[in-house]
Amino acid sequence: MTSTPEIIHVPVLAEEVLRALEPKDGAVYVDGTFGNGGYSRAVLDAADCTVYAIDRDPDAIARGQVMAAEAGGRLILIEGRFSEIDRLVAAHGVAQVSGIALDIGISSFQIDDPARGFSFAADGPLDMRMERSGATAADIVNSLSETELAELIYRFGEERQSRRIAAAIVSARAVEAITRTGQLADIIIRAIGRRPDKKTHVATKTFQALRIYVNDELGELRLGLEAAERLLATDGTLCVVSFHSLEDKLVKSFLAERSGSLPTPSRHRPPQRRSTPPPTFFLPKRGAVKPGRDEIAANPRSRSARLRVAVRTDAAPWPETRAGASA
Ligand SMILES: C[S@@+](CC[C@H](N)C(=O)[O-])C[C@H]1O[C@@H](n2cnc3c(N)ncnc32)[C@H](O)[C@@H]1O
Repeated sequence: MTSTPEIIHVPVLAEEVLRALEPKDGAVYVDGTFGNGGYSRAVLDAADCTVYAIDRDPDAIARGQVMAAEAGGRLILIEGRFSEIDRLVAAHGVAQVSGIALDIGISSFQIDDPARGFSFAADGPLDMRMERSGATAADIVNSLSETELAELIYRFGEERQSRRIAAAIVSARAVEAITRTGQLADIIIRAIGRRPDKKTHVATKTFQALRIYVNDELGELRLGLEAAERLLATDGTLCVVSFHSLEDKLVKSFLAERSGSLPTPSRHRPPQRRSTPPPTFFLPKRGAVKPGRDEIAANPRSRSARLRVAVRTDAAPWPETRAGASA
């Protein structure tokens, strides 16, 4: 019998997140992406505070129970989506918090477990659902039209060969349904070759696109930022760590909008009549924090991480975007 190697998830940019949050005794924080609890643990160790930790993956919540028991009531685990953080913690009687951390994406427990179907590195069912419910990546790959697949792979994977990959998927599935990660990776390799000169696998972008689509990750992120705006107390800190340019762009433009620092429109354009509400955030630091060389050497998965920090003003939250209208 083969044994599964032990999976560990190394928290990314954790020191920088902790420095930005500056946990204080008696305060309440939200870890919107509990994962393996790296951020929650760091916050709980830094002060005598309380952490509400949320994850949409039931496995992450189950794994965290030991930590919650050890924290003696200071760590409250909630299964759910961070797009709902304000409502999830309100159900526990909490209306405002001093800091929120979001570490977007998937954990090593998800990517390194072939049974979860996120990775082309080891064969497994083509699943990719963080919540273990809803449509799987296999459902998507076997049902969308060629045009829809090409658009999805281009939009969420930024894959320039999206049309060729979509065509290969459609002809392969006419022979037999695509149900395994290895099967899909082989179809992509056959469609576009191995690119031996490139460090990243040719299936990387297509797998990223499917994962984002299956879990509506960009819709979740947009709504999560709005929920954070509603939940943070004045002077509360928001920390968002993202791992690819689509996510980081979304965070950057949300914070630019909400801090009133959107680029001024061209003087050749007619003046805008609509006035925007007062800024709900200010940005203590321009730009994103990146991992240092030592962190990248110790944890190569951190290399694309970007942390953006924003501090809540006392302005009222902007009107809420309805779910489904954001992606
Ligand atoms: C990168 S990991 C977080 C790792 C964590 N910071 C740590 O140090 O262990 C991301 C986690 O967020 C969860 N997640 C992703 N999107 C989510 C969402 N919309 N709502 C709640 N949890 C989400 C994933 O299931 C995963 O466990």
